[in-house]
Amino acid sequence: MADFRGVFLLGVVLFVACSVTGVRGTKFDDVIQASWASDHLIYDGELLKLKLDNFSGAGFASKNKYLYGKATAEVKLVEGDSAGTVTAFYMASDGVNHNEFDYEFLGNTTGEPYLVQTNIYVNGIGNKEQRMDLWFDPTADFHAYSILWNPRQVVFLVDDTPIRVYANHEESGVVFPRDQPMGVYSSIWNADDWATQGGRVKTDWSHAPFVATYREVRIDGCGWGAGEELAAAVKRCSESEWGKEGRYWWKKKDMEALSVHQSHQLLWARAKHLVYDYCADTARFPVPPAECKA
Ligand SMILES: *[C@@H]1O[C@H](CO)[C@@H](O)[C@H](O)[C@H]1NC(C)=O
Ligand SMILES: *[C@@H]1O[C@H](CO)[C@@H](O)[C@H](O)[C@H]1NC(C)=O
Repeated sequence: MADFRGVFLLGVVLFVACSVTGVRGTKFDDVIQASWASDHLIYDGELLKLKLDNFSGAGFASKNKYLYGKATAEVKLVEGDSAGTVTAFYMASDGVNHNEFDYEFLGNTTGEPYLVQTNIYVNGIGNKEQRMDLWFDPTADFHAYSILWNPRQVVFLVDDTPIRVYANHEESGVVFPRDQPMGVYSSIWNADDWATQGGRVKTDWSHAPFVATYREVRIDGCGWGAGEELAAAVKRCSESEWGKEGRYWWKKKDMEALSVHQSHQLLWARAKHLVYDYCADTARFPVPPAECKA
């Protein structure tokens, strides 16, 4: 009898211990892990927080790499004074000729609007910045920021509204990012040399810590399995027919381009909220880059 009770109590203790770690990790631990300053990455109930103070910023990275798919972070950006800070959410491959799809949220002084800068690197070359403000206050609540990547297009979506499309124009000689598995990353850091009002407004450390809060990180992609040859993964993830497997929904025929409704949303977002587009920056690019002409 006494032995039984001991086993029962041990069971309860284990159950409680597992539940506690379960609450801490479940949603996030399956998908991501700390990649920079794990002491500045804080689990708070169902939420994950990245903290920037005068000692360090913080970041996380996906556990897997992906070849095509959709990555989404539901984030509430730094409240109040966020001037000088940048919170980034991006996908990137490794190496000098890497590909990268970036969201960079540029903080501002209290009450002034955040700017969302997007950029795209293809074969190691970036310089494709666009900047937008938002149609809501991104510090007041959680919003979903997504990157969709398939062999025909890269789409940046905010709450499922497309704000930018980088379409495949290989037929016009424009290189399209493919064949390099990408990780999914997020971080917060001090960038007061350039981020806010061109670097004129510096980070006010008396307002630290600056905290970006995540409610969810979802990645639905073709994972590059451990031990799999890269060539085999590229073939499996890119050469299969559109959505043939069903589970690769991001490659279905209707994901090749925006729907009519999405095209209207994109036009609306850009007409109302675009504040900078490298394609229109003739001082910087007297000859428009090829992808801008395509
Ligand atoms: C960081 O900020 C804290 C609190 O304001 C302060 O006590 C500390 O001296 C600062 N450390 C550095 C390295 O600036
Ligand atoms: C910050 O606010 C100023 C004033 O409204 C605005 O000009 C600027 O674009 C905003 N964003 C950044 C990142 O500087």
